[in-house]
Amino acid sequence: MTNLKLANPEIATLDVDAVVIGVVSNEPEINLASGAESVDRAFDGGLATVLAGLGATGAQGEITKLPTFGKLSAPVIVAVGLGKERDASADGGEALRRAAGAALRSLAGSASIALALPAATAEDVTAVATGALLGNYAYLNYRTGDGHKTPVGEVTVVGTADAGDALHRAEVVAESVTLVRDLVNTPPSDLSPEIFAETAEQVAGATGLSVQVLDEKALVEGGYGGIVGVGQGSVNPPRLVRLAYRHPEAAHTVAFVGKGITFDSGGLSLKPADSMDWMKSDMGGAAAVLGALKAIARLAPKVNVVGYLAIAENMPSGTAQRPSDVITIYGGKTVEVLNTDAEGRLVMADALVRSGEDDPDLVVDVATLTGAQLVALGARTAGVMANDDAVRDRVVAAAGRAGEAVWPMPLPEELRKGLESSVADIANVSGERWGGMLTAGVFLREFVPEGVRWAHLDIAGPAFHKGEPYGYTPKGGTGAAVRTLVQITEDVAAEGL
Ligand code: BES
Ligand code: MN
Ligand code: ZN
Repeated sequence: MTNLKLANPEIATLDVDAVVIGVVSNEPEINLASGAESVDRAFDGGLATVLAGLGATGAQGEITKLPTFGKLSAPVIVAVGLGKERDASADGGEALRRAAGAALRSLAGSASIALALPAATAEDVTAVATGALLGNYAYLNYRTGDGHKTPVGEVTVVGTADAGDALHRAEVVAESVTLVRDLVNTPPSDLSPEIFAETAEQVAGATGLSVQVLDEKALVEGGYGGIVGVGQGSVNPPRLVRLAYRHPEAAHTVAFVGKGITFDSGGLSLKPADSMDWMKSDMGGAAAVLGALKAIARLAPKVNVVGYLAIAENMPSGTAQRPSDVITIYGGKTVEVLNTDAEGRLVMADALVRSGEDDPDLVVDVATLTGAQLVALGARTAGVMANDDAVRDRVVAAAGRAGEAVWPMPLPEELRKGLESSVADIANVSGERWGGMLTAGVFLREFVPEGVRWAHLDIAGPAFHKGEPYGYTPKGGTGAAVRTLVQITEDVAAEGL
């Protein structure tokens, strides 16, 4: 983990490898962002002119490096673009997070750096620190030899020292996001359902969460037909993990349910090769629930939170479920499995029904559920559906404040008809071609405990980033939804439901 500290030092004499400042675009000019004043003084107030001469425009994520020629103890200044001034204040800190993340990525390999970015408020300090920690991520577990970029060792956030809580919050959240990224990036051969469940037990042990794991035998005996059906084609048997955080003064209980398919081959309804090579990310929802519970246990909000991880590996084999098999979900409803690649909704159905036994006031599920999510919203924006418009809008608002892109989507009544089965209570796929993300939501709604408010997040795209890194987002696992789940929890603790 990055060594992070908050200090208000004399920047000119600070012994670090680089000092990061912000540049704001005010076309046609650029301006230095607040925090850069003392650095600018060392350049006799001419730093913005020098940077403009080097081509800096202040565009978001732009990096301009400049030698200090002894004007500071640090040898290099890194100027990072914050975008347009008017954006920076109203975006919930996202410009700051992205700028800090981009700066850290550009400084990989450095021993120590200082961030002299805007940090006048506790929110700004949290944003700068969060972006820095998330941008400083590298997954090196399977690298051998030298020659790959290693994270920055020590990061000093320059700001008033009374923002210690703000820094702590950033560390807690970033450590959870990092956990999720690591789990998603782990090759599926090294993250079987059993290992994933053991990891959850370790996290629970270290953070004081209570934890129960149902193994394949307990799942059969308990009647969890969805998880058992999906898992039966794999030599690595499935698991259902229940985590719980309790606060003695809690007035509400929130349940989170995550899809934990450690690898999704599609099963007998096999995926084409191009769609399969990133299916190690299909446990991103369950990992996000684990990461959120870990952060919540450390932040200790006044609310009870239960987390379910529905974990299985979806493989084709002689023991795999067949298209047209009928399974019985926990609680008794039957499902005709017409396509074994629509497996996420089957494991989620079991866990959703089970979550009712915790008497939750709110259930939020998170799943890399459909390719249709990517078609509808692109790779970076999650969809949220709900059985209550107010709950849906609160999830959107919480995500916005947490710095995650989530967009409200409907659950059109007419889509239920396409899920009618000729033999069972419901089919797992629809005859209707359009609106696949919504159809999956309509399917899940059938398994939500009676009378309970529920929201469903489809993070198929956001959980895994296939392109080049940007801001604080690396290639591969992103940790999507962790920050949103933590924010929802804190909102319920502070405002109720
Ligand atoms: N895990 C996939 C969805 C997915 C696709 C996640 C792309 C991340 C990136 C899910 O299990 C799946 O295969 N869904 C099918 C459903 C279909 C058979 C109704 C899909 O979207 O094609
Ligand atoms: Mn699938
Ligand atoms: Zn899947």
